[in-house]
Order: sequence, then structure tokens, then C-alpha cells
Amino acid sequence: MKKAVLVTGASSGIGAATAKLFANQGYFVYLLGRNEERLQEVALSCPGGASLLKCDLNNEAQLDKYTKHLFERADTQLEVLVNNAGVFEQHTSQKDEGLDIWRKMFETNFFGSINLTQRVLPLLARHHQGSIVNVSSTLGLRPTAQTAAYSASKAAMINWTQSLALELGPQKIRVNCVCPGLVDTPIHAFHSLNSKAKEAALDNMKNLQPLGRIGHPEEIAQSIYFLGSQQSSWTTGAILSVDGGINLT
Ligand SMILES: NC(=O)c1ccc[n+]([C@@H]2O[C@H](COP(=O)([O-])OP(=O)(O)OC[C@H]3O[C@@H](n4cnc5c(N)ncnc54)[C@H](OP(=O)(O)O)[C@@H]3O)[C@@H](O)[C@H]2O)c1
Repeated sequence: MKKAVLVTGASSGIGAATAKLFANQGYFVYLLGRNEERLQEVALSCPGGASLLKCDLNNEAQLDKYTKHLFERADTQLEVLVNNAGVFEQHTSQKDEGLDIWRKMFETNFFGSINLTQRVLPLLARHHQGSIVNVSSTLGLRPTAQTAAYSASKAAMINWTQSLALELGPQKIRVNCVCPGLVDTPIHAFHSLNSKAKEAALDNMKNLQPLGRIGHPEEIAQSIYFLGSQQSSWTTGAILSVDGGINLT
């Protein structure tokens, strides 16, 4: 049986980079996301084989269908789950904003991961070296103005990581969390600007980073791989900031 990883939000940014890295390390990769075309593109860069799970994390019927498929696969052994999918929007906390934005951030960034994790836990427990990596954010540790719902959903991810690490230790499942800082991916409006406009948009942000630049998806993928794989076999409940030092400022 081939060792396998399931990466959510694998169609883009950090998830795509993570899927490719695991694939290059010999893992079979289950790629979960809603955009089939982009998932297919990522699959082409996965030499060890990949299977697409075209699925909305907020749709329980779709999750049931695809997790059933995972249980039926006799050729792979799911060792790692990367709960990476997420959405980001800025907003204020004034009354006229209502709760819609809060529900949206928590639905995908938090409840979606719980939904999926509950379903695949029996698979991860089978081989006594299962591992979960949750992707939170520096904003989950230290929020900024106009990001309350996103930051709270990411703080919940951190707290859940620690609780789950305690709960699943007896089943030999490790649970860890990566908190990325500012990374150049499509989640940010600046990502799709032309290079000159992007440079201008990023100037101020770069100066705020102790390392003087923003991050690349591949740099987050390296940390996710470390925590997901047996390279970190005695690490559980860890919250790893990968953020160019911004959490210290
Ligand atoms: N980039 C940053 O600066 C940064 C910083 C801190 C934390 N993060 C976190 O890193 C993670 C990855 O973000 P990214 O920067 O790589 O952004 P991205 O390029 O926009 O990727 C987000 C991914 O999430 C998937 N997704 C969103 N909603 C989904 C849903 N309902 N069901 C299934 N998949 C869904 C998207 O796939 P589809 O569109 O195909 O559904 C996409 O693959 C997120 O959790 C984000 O909060 C990012």
C-alpha cells in the first residue's frame, strides 16, 4: 500500500505547493478543492499519483461521498491530513455588517476542517502513525483591525489543534498547526496585479516584516511537510509560526 496525504485547498497557493512537495517525497496525494480544472493542473505535478476530490468542504453530502471513496481504496494508506483550505475577507465589526461574514469565515476556515477530520479519523488511526496539520495564520495568534472574523476562525483552529492533540495522542495520531504570515497567493487581491502595481502595493507591507519580504507558498509547504511527515515523529500540539518574524513586532 502506498502512503497517502489528503490536502484541502489543493487547487491553489499553499495547498498546491504542499501537495506537490508531498508528491515529490513519494506520497500518493488526494487533492481536495472545488475548482476541478486547477486541481487537474496540480495533479500533473504529482509524480507519485493523485486523485481529485472535487468537493466543497461545507457540503456534507459531498464529503460523505468522497470519504466513502477513501475508505474503499485498498491501494493507499492515508497517513496525513492537511486542513489548509480557507477564505479571507476584511470587514468591520459594526452592527450593519451582521453575522454573514462571521458565518462565512467559520464555515470554511473552521467547521469545514472539523467536518472532514471527523470523517477520516478512523483511516488515520489505522496505522498508528497518522498525522494532522492544520493551517491557521499569524492573525490567529495576533489579530489586526478589520480582520475579526477571519482572525477568530484561525484562533479557533489553534485551540482545536491543541485539544485534538491531547485527545488523539492515545491513538498515536499527531496534530500540529502552521501559522503562515503574509504569503503571495490568490487569497490576496494584490496577487493578480501586474508586477509594477504589485510592487507598489507590497512596499509598505514588506517594510513591516523583520525579514524584509513576504513569503512564498513553497516556504509554508516545507513546514507543513515537516509536521505532517515522520520527520517530526515526536511532535504533537505544536503551533509553528512561519511568517518572516512578523509575530514578534
Ligand atoms: N496567503 C497568506 O498570506 C496566508 C496567511 C496566513 C494563512 N493563510 C491560510 O493558508 C490557507 C491557504 O490559503 P492560500 O493563501 O493558499 O489561499 P488560496 O490560494 O486562495 O487557496 C485557498 C484554497 O482553499 C480552497 N477552498 C476555499 N473554500 C473552500 C471550500 N468551501 N471547500 C473546499 N475548498 C475550499 C480553494 O479551492 P477552490 O477554490 O478550488 O475551492 C483554494 O484551493 C488558508 O487557510 C489561509 O487562510 C494564508
